[in-house]
Amino acid sequence: MKPKVTLSAAMTLDGKIATKTGSSEISGPEDLLRVHKLRKDMDAIMVGINTVLADDPRLSVHKISSKPDDNPIRVVVDSQARTPLNYRILNSEAPTIIAVSTQAPVKRVRMLEAEDTVEVIICGDKQVDLESLMEKLGEKGIKTLMLEGGSTLNYSMFQAGLVSEVKLCIAPMIAGGSQAKTLADGDGVDYMKDAFRLKFKKSYTLGEDLIVEYDVL
Ligand SMILES: NC(=O)c1ccc[n+]([C@@H]2O[C@H](COP(=O)([O-])OP(=O)(O)OC[C@H]3O[C@@H](n4cnc5c(N)ncnc54)[C@H](OP(=O)(O)O)[C@@H]3O)[C@@H](O)[C@H]2O)c1
Repeated sequence: MKPKVTLSAAMTLDGKIATKTGSSEISGPEDLLRVHKLRKDMDAIMVGINTVLADDPRLSVHKISSKPDDNPIRVVVDSQARTPLNYRILNSEAPTIIAVSTQAPVKRVRMLEAEDTVEVIICGDKQVDLESLMEKLGEKGIKTLMLEGGSTLNYSMFQAGLVSEVKLCIAPMIAGGSQAKTLADGDGVDYMKDAFRLKFKKSYTLGEDLIVEYDVL
């Protein structure tokens, strides 16, 4: 069975998850703790390769007290196996699955597989086939997965109908910029009638931020 996917992101009031230069420090301190508690409850956390390259994230539970086995499995969606070997996503804090397509250079795949913490999954002929990736993660016993961006992967996951719920931190900031990434970019739908629909679940303030939660219909 495919994992239940929770999209988690922090965005400005104008829907940006990063500025045009890629700067993405949006959450207040209280929200960072909320996100790390959420991570602790998940079997896996998934990001796109551009997020790895832009932010060099650890994707571990480290802002709250935790044990090593509280760390979810990390998943990188990386068709061409571009994940740099010296990035923190491959550190020893947790296992990392790199999902690549059949287009990934064999040499890069071998280099990644040689890392102690890494497993490479091949799915998809051009880009990573997300539906098939979710099936494979499900077969590995992953029941819950937190999708942590970025915009391109978020859109593809919506498009494939793979997102169950959305938990957002909305910070009282306006970043602007037509080149700045929003919550979901990708191709976008042509008409509002085709927009993905959500149902409001709950909202509350946390420090200066607003937390909103929705189910995807
Ligand atoms: N504020 C927040 O909560 C937050 C969270 C995360 C990220 N961010 C920001 O988001 C920005 C990165 O977002 P992004 O949109 O550029 O990149 P992204 O979504 O992180 O990664 C997109 C890349 O994933 C790969 N991919 C492989 N298969 C895919 C598929 N089926 N569908 C979609 N993507 C697939 C593609 O590269 P290949 O074809 O080479 O594989 C694609 O270009 C960064 O600036 C980061 O700071 C903000």
